[in-house]
Amino acid sequence: MSLNVEVLEQSFQQVKPRASEFVTSFYDHLFIAHPEVKPLFANIDMARQHKMLLNALVLVVENLRKPEVLGQALKGLGARHVGYGASPQHYGAVGEALLVTFEEYLQQDWTPEVKQAWLGAFEVIEAEMLQGAGEVPSIA
Ligand code: HEM
Repeated sequence: MSLNVEVLEQSFQQVKPRASEFVTSFYDHLFIAHPEVKPLFANIDMARQHKMLLNALVLVVENLRKPEVLGQALKGLGARHVGYGASPQHYGAVGEALLVTFEEYLQQDWTPEVKQAWLGAFEVIEAEMLQGAGEVPSIA
């Protein structure tokens, strides 16, 4: 597990006051860079989806100090994503869009250390979710 908890918490606090725009921007980046994932969201209420993604990010950041809680929640989330049509390749697209959005919002505070922290966090999130989806053995 590669989690730089302080840096993740602090940088997330910085974007939290603009969380709603952050999530909208995340989906914009995702759909522009990876139009192939758009059909998966075709029948989804996107306003509700935005809130759920935000809740998931808050859950991750709030449970960084409780790896068991976080691991269980992410495995369950990953298992549900099989039914949503998410494949392992899609996780790369989501991770990339998330990092681009953080860069956009943090600007000069998007330092190499912060970038490394979120890359590491996403690796953990992806590994746990894919494990829950039954795709790959745990690397955690
Ligand atoms: C960082 C990784 C991800 C997180 C944190 C995340 C989070 C969520 C959350 C919280 C929901 C709400 C439903 C639930 O809790 O089961 C959801 C739904 C959904 N996710 Fe993700 N997701 C991730 C990756 C992906 C990927 C890679 C795809 C595929 C492109 C995807 C596609 C979807 C779709 C289509 C739904 C809508 C399901 C429905 O309402 O029918 N997600 N996601």
